[in-house]
Amino acid sequence: MELLLPACVMLQMLCFVSGYPSGAPTGACEDMLPRHSGVLPQPSPAPYALLVNSGTFQPGEAITVTITGPEYRGVLLEARTLGSTNALGSWRLPPPDTKFLQCTGNPQGAVTHSNTNLKGKTTVYSWIPPNSTSLIYFMATVAQQRTVFWVNVRSAALTRGKPGGLGLATCANASAGIAGKKPLLLLVMCFLMLKVLG
Ligand SMILES: *[C@@H]1O[C@H](CO)[C@@H](O)[C@H](O)[C@H]1NC(C)=O
Ligand SMILES: *[C@@H]1O[C@H](CO)[C@@H](O)[C@H](O)[C@H]1NC(C)=O
Repeated sequence: MELLLPACVMLQMLCFVSGYPSGAPTGACEDMLPRHSGVLPQPSPAPYALLVNSGTFQPGEAITVTITGPEYRGVLLEARTLGSTNALGSWRLPPPDTKFLQCTGNPQGAVTHSNTNLKGKTTVYSWIPPNSTSLIYFMATVAQQRTVFWVNVRSAALTRGKPGGLGLATCANASAGIAGKKPLLLLVMCFLMLKVLG
């Protein structure tokens, strides 16, 4: 009996390792799907959330992103805007057990895991915004193990900060509150509001 458990854990590890033990490939930048043949994303709502330290961004000023939820082994993290699969901005030095992944021609366009060690709340990602006026959000694929992963995990939207004003930070606030239900719809509404007000 005592031998059985470690053996099972080992087997699971080996399975995971046969997938992408050292991170997602550049080919996964756009659809953010692992290339494990025959393994589908979990259909259930992700037990993960992407938290950001601000509702607004300024070009060149770092934003920190954390993934809350159960510990995870695999990750692919990008910043995006509506209607595009381009990875935006640049990530800073990746936290332990993660590394850069080249996406959209940028060697620091995304971050992925570098091994199968467990990562968690103390794994903090730091991102440098581009000179953009678009609404930006973060998007991740998070894997607990090779066959158990969730796609399309999103943060609240960030708006370009306006000097001396809140801008539409409240918009990002609102989408944070409703995150998980209709984030895309909310993003679209925010985006339209931006167009009208901006
Ligand atoms: C940012 O973009 C705007 C408009 O695209 C441009 O006018 C401005 O010079 C840019 N700023 C920097 C620092 O590149
Ligand atoms: C976001 O909401 C929190 C509380 O819900 C509030 O304290 C904060 O001021 C809001 N931020 C903005 C920018 O509206």
